[in-house]
Amino acid sequence: MTDLDTLERDLLGQIETASDEAALEAVRVSALGKKGSVSELLKTLGAMTPDERKERGPLINGLRDRVTTALGSRREALQGAALEARLASERIDVTLPLREAPEASGRIHPISQVIDEITAIFADLGFSVAEGPDIETDEYNFTALNFPEGHPAREMHDTFFLAPDHLGRRKVLRTHTSPVQIRTMRSVEPPIRVIIPGRTYRHDSDQTHTPMFHQVEGLVIDRQANIANLKWVLENFCRAFFEVESVGMRFRPSFFPFTEPSAEVDIQCTRKGGEIRFGEGTDWLEVLGCGMVHPNVLKNCGLDPDQFQGFAFGMGIDRLAMLKYGMPDLRPFFEADVRWIEHYGFRPLDVPSLVGGLTA
Ligand code: PHE
Repeated sequence: MTDLDTLERDLLGQIETASDEAALEAVRVSALGKKGSVSELLKTLGAMTPDERKERGPLINGLRDRVTTALGSRREALQGAALEARLASERIDVTLPLREAPEASGRIHPISQVIDEITAIFADLGFSVAEGPDIETDEYNFTALNFPEGHPAREMHDTFFLAPDHLGRRKVLRTHTSPVQIRTMRSVEPPIRVIIPGRTYRHDSDQTHTPMFHQVEGLVIDRQANIANLKWVLENFCRAFFEVESVGMRFRPSFFPFTEPSAEVDIQCTRKGGEIRFGEGTDWLEVLGCGMVHPNVLKNCGLDPDQFQGFAFGMGIDRLAMLKYGMPDLRPFFEADVRWIEHYGFRPLDVPSLVGGLTA
């Protein structure tokens, strides 16, 4: 066997066993590269006699061609195998169910959603949002709101009292959001147009009452805000909130120390078929308290009742949420049961807006 035969066998063997393209390239360089074994052989042709060249030339060129062909077909085979492997490793079963992304499985609590809805509606009417502390002084929760000392209205609220301080004064967990009326009137100049959503507390617990619940207060103070404006605002709110064309409302005379006159408002509904619906029917459901801000309250905030007047209203957010979304019991709102929130909660990106729809 000649050295050419040996070299060819050797190279073809290496090509056949090259396990990947990098190994194959190394073989190519060792044979056909500048200093490769076959290239070196080709270089010897120049120094040969014509006769020698006639004999050796075809042999060496033949060797080069066969090695080149073998390299090409091995490269193709390796590339095909690599593609096969990649297709196999990246194969996906498109029939598998989708795994939800975190933002798709999180839920917004109905209370937060309803607060956002209420805020969107009142923002559209030019109201801004004000807030105050959950722990209040007796002054803000009662006295400045025209509850006289020892007045039975203080008892009406089933107040939670904190331990007395060294002067015997007891702070309270605010029983309503109305103290923030006082905080607002004492800190900003009229015209005032605010809503005040927040937590409130009363010693009460059953299917529709929890010791902590939520209210939203409304307050409008300027030189001429009147009862007609109050009714218009509330009617607009109810129509927008319950997403109905029109809703009958009934203003019943009532009493709150901080408003005069005062009213409780019922909205028209039907309870046919065990389900409550608004904007139709002959039944009534109480949804809020309201009235014209009492002159004593204005005075307590340094406002002259001959110059300024206005109205206030307050409603239970939890109750509004239960009514709108058909939840029969209030207590699970605060039990942090993930099954409940998955059922009644809202998708994080379904942000309520008047344009996009409150409950899109
Ligand atoms: N604060 C009253 C309540 O909790 C509601 C209310 C607010 C009434 C504002 C009139 C005006 O019952």
